[in-house]
Amino acid sequence: MNALDLLKEQHEEVSKLFKKFEKLGDGASSERRELFIMIADRLSAHASIEELYFYPSIKTEKSEDMVREAVEEHLAVKRIIADLLDMEPDDENFSAKMKVMMENVEHHVEEEEKELFPMVRKILNDDQLLALGVQMKAEFDELMEAEPRNEVPMQTDEAAPI
Ligand SMILES: [Fe+2]
Repeated sequence: MNALDLLKEQHEEVSKLFKKFEKLGDGASSERRELFIMIADRLSAHASIEELYFYPSIKTEKSEDMVREAVEEHLAVKRIIADLLDMEPDDENFSAKMKVMMENVEHHVEEEEKELFPMVRKILNDDQLLALGVQMKAEFDELMEAEPRNEVPMQTDEAAPI
């Protein structure tokens, strides 16, 4: 699968989970926890494949500022996820933190899809995007087997190197 299609598909999947979470409202604390865990695992694995494969492959003089911004945004989201992992869903701050995390992700996704991805199409050709997609999908699936959210608290000191 083409790397950009893969990332977009994962963005959509997370956005659906966000909507589900919002619909749950303030009760249903075990469902909220379960959904948060699904979201945290997906975001963690998604950030990892971008940081390990995607960003390094697309970093050029032109895209460098955007990629630096992207990894800083990942860091901000990881810090909130790390806080949330330490909280119970009935904590009075859980919903507020979750909301800020979702807003950060939505902003980041919009910038990637509207600004970064069009630039990437000029940096990598179809064959390169396909090979990258295959590699990222394999890594994502492997990460998802081992509760990737547990890596997040170890990644909150500084942004991933690119
Ligand atoms: Fe990203």
